[in-house]
Amino acid sequence: MRLDDTQGRPLRNLRLSVTDRCNLRCQYCMPEEEYAWLPRQEILHFGEIAALVDVFTGLGVDRVRLTGGEPLLRRELARLVTMLAAKPALRDLALTTNGILLGDQAQTLRDAGLGRVTVSLDTLRPERFTALTRRTTHAQVLEGIGAAVRVGFAGLKLDTVVIRGLNDDELVDLVEFARRAPAELRFIEYMDVGGATRWSMAQVVPRSEILAVLERRYGRIEPIVEDSSAPADRYRLADGTVFGIISSTTQPFCARCDRSRLTADGTWYLCLYAREGVDLRGPFRAGATPDELRALITGRWQARTDRGAEERLRLRDRAPLLGPGELRADPRLEMHTRGG
Ligand code: GTP
Ligand code: 5AD
Ligand code: SF4
Repeated sequence: MRLDDTQGRPLRNLRLSVTDRCNLRCQYCMPEEEYAWLPRQEILHFGEIAALVDVFTGLGVDRVRLTGGEPLLRRELARLVTMLAAKPALRDLALTTNGILLGDQAQTLRDAGLGRVTVSLDTLRPERFTALTRRTTHAQVLEGIGAAVRVGFAGLKLDTVVIRGLNDDELVDLVEFARRAPAELRFIEYMDVGGATRWSMAQVVPRSEILAVLERRYGRIEPIVEDSSAPADRYRLADGTVFGIISSTTQPFCARCDRSRLTADGTWYLCLYAREGVDLRGPFRAGATPDELRALITGRWQARTDRGAEERLRLRDRAPLLGPGELRADPRLEMHTRGG
């Protein structure tokens, strides 16, 4: 089954946010003092999530990534992993986490059938971590990364959002850390998404500059040519070390984007930048059949025109996408609700 949107992009990748809560307050994602949370009774139960995943796999989705907020804050997450891992239609079941609780949960998640893990790691310096996240849990993140390796997750990835003046002096240190972990590091350009209310173009370190810095240290960097819908372009250093760059801000990958997002309350977004989502919880709880839900999703995906990041690129004076007021009025516009 392959369902294409108006640009020939298939519905394949589903990012499932299991909670909007987070145990960090990263400047680039959750800079405010207070947040409006999704109402508890609106959060999908595991049975509901699993049923919706079946609807999506019936339409071609074969990759699911669990996200948050911080997904490991969702109670008994491993139980959901067990339920999803049992679905033969899912070729790939992954998780994106800030790592804090991974030391405790890595083994259980692996036993439950989780396939892959990506940990966010923006800095190797504890005091900088505290300044960035307003929390003092850097050591736990490093422990979490160690645990992921120890329990045998293959293909571990580390994600670094690069921000000028904040961590752009750590690019080489992070490459070295990832090599030793071992993990594949990806540098992410700071994006002007919902939640990034303090974003400015001046703080974005573009891909070209990241490459230039690494070239000064490592010499020639070879781009890896591959046909993939993944957001990261990959590169190889002379010693064989592979890393990636996700340049959503200066060179978006909208043309190949096969991903959509389901928030913890069952709202389905066809683009990271979309203002409106499709309510799936309402019809589901009102008793819509799988066929009816499939028809709803099919209609919306076939009509999809979204190229959010490319549209942002065309703006002359780029400012944050949304202000705190708009975000308070609709928390689903937040990156931490949409799942990064
Ligand atoms: P795999 O390719 O399956 O390993 O995962 P991934 O790279 O898609 O997942 P991950 O959660 O590590 O995503 C990394 C980052 O890429 C996200 O946190 C975002 O910053 C960015 N990103 C992911 N999806 C999108 C998207 O749909 N649009 C844009 N513009 N950026 C995205
Ligand atoms: N720009 C880039 N990436 C972001 N993330 C959240 N906010 C932003 C932003 N403004 C992503 C990063 C990070 C994860 C928690 O969410 O990938 O590692
Ligand atoms: Fe996909 Fe929208 Fe991100 Fe472009 S901006 S890659 S269309 S989610």
